[in-house]
Amino acid sequence: FMYGEFPAGFSWGVATSAYQIEGGFDQGGRGPSIWDEFSHTAGNIVDGTNGDVACDSYTRYKEDVALVKQMGVGSYRFSISWSRILPTGKIDQINEKGIDYYNALINELIENNIQPIVTLYHWDLPSRLQAEFGGWISDAIIPLFVDYAKLCFQRFGDRVKTWITLNEPRVVAHGYEEKDMAPGTNMRGTGAYQSSYIMLKAHARVYHTYAKLYKPTQNGRIGITLNCDWGEPQSLNSSNKKAAERFMQWFIGLYAHPIYVGGWPRIMRDLVDFKSQHEGRPKSRLPEFTQAEQDDIIGTSDFLGLNSYTSLLISANHQQTPGFYSDRDIETTFDKSWSSSGSQWLKIAPSGIRKVLKWIKREYPGYGSILITENGVSEQIDQTQRFNLYDEVRVNYFKDYTNNVLKAIRINGVNVEGYMAWSLMDNFEWAQGYKERFGLHFVDFKTLKRTPKASALFYKKLVQNNGVPS
Ligand code: NOJ
Repeated sequence: FMYGEFPAGFSWGVATSAYQIEGGFDQGGRGPSIWDEFSHTAGNIVDGTNGDVACDSYTRYKEDVALVKQMGVGSYRFSISWSRILPTGKIDQINEKGIDYYNALINELIENNIQPIVTLYHWDLPSRLQAEFGGWISDAIIPLFVDYAKLCFQRFGDRVKTWITLNEPRVVAHGYEEKDMAPGTNMRGTGAYQSSYIMLKAHARVYHTYAKLYKPTQNGRIGITLNCDWGEPQSLNSSNKKAAERFMQWFIGLYAHPIYVGGWPRIMRDLVDFKSQHEGRPKSRLPEFTQAEQDDIIGTSDFLGLNSYTSLLISANHQQTPGFYSDRDIETTFDKSWSSSGSQWLKIAPSGIRKVLKWIKREYPGYGSILITENGVSEQIDQTQRFNLYDEVRVNYFKDYTNNVLKAIRINGVNVEGYMAWSLMDNFEWAQGYKERFGLHFVDFKTLKRTPKASALFYKKLVQNNGVPS
């Protein structure tokens, strides 16, 4: 089996997110988000930078749409900054200038025959909602997220036909468990579970709101984007195989089980309940769904958005400290044969994406279809080499990863409808600042000039050919 063609109608795109590219953090009436606060606090971002300017896509969006167009892709995934259209996070104060910005961007895309794929929440929570009631930790956010989503459906839904509620809730949850991502509340042992519980309920409410009030006339669809890397058992003994299974449940099962099956994964319930008891707690650290909540969440994704980047080696290791990561009772490493990238967490292991796709198909037979909403690789810029436009590593990454997606489709029968490369251009890589670059276009952050890397040209050919050109 060599490289081959993707099914007819397979869709190709590129992706970005608001805080990572827009800049204009205090322009046009935008309110502050938790990422402004987090990045403005000394010590939080490795290179001391922030997203104040980023790629300045707030003013350069036409140029960026031209780059997308130039690549020949049919879709562009971006996110709306909640605090740009609702500066306080609440519906009583609409910032029309922010609405104008997204209208202009969407119109520019449509005029260029590029389908907008819009994420409602890509981590930049309006600060006010964090300060007032703790953000995703509290039920108070649910009606506010619904109000915000309704505003987006009302104003943009005539042209936007694919919506994503939340991007990578697991990473949002991380920000409530630990301190190295916003909001950094560091509620170890409870933050990730509690925020996940609230996010699932909020996601479901937005799904039903769209289904009931907008879908009948707007004819779009709405889903969630979950991230999942592959957990490979370190050896094939049964304790490591079980450990790898726990890794997957804590990675994606946490959200996919409530959505496709109902309630938390069994093993998660058992283990966290058991540990909580040992800690002498009156209740489990894992919140309990009411039957009504569980029913509300089931079936709430018209497609599954999947972000997948890497693989890890998993072995069993019993742990006693309470925590989202220690509850899994595993240890993770990387195989020595996997090559490195510019990010410590990202090793290049192309077959991982195929294994994740197969695992999802087996575990959630009702998944419907999968849209790969992100896949890509980073490089770091070193002192000597000002920048590298000949990004062979990225070209090979896309070649090998898309080929594994193709195998999952052709050989394993996984229903994958499209693939979006992360990212259109170098941008603000959260706590890693501008050091780790995922772009198909190089961005000079002094001049803000965009230049295609070799990978942009390669990806363009891949898209034209609907598969790796032979
Ligand atoms: C996933 C996130 O959605 C995105 O914001 C981030 O830049 C990439 N992964 C790379 O880490």
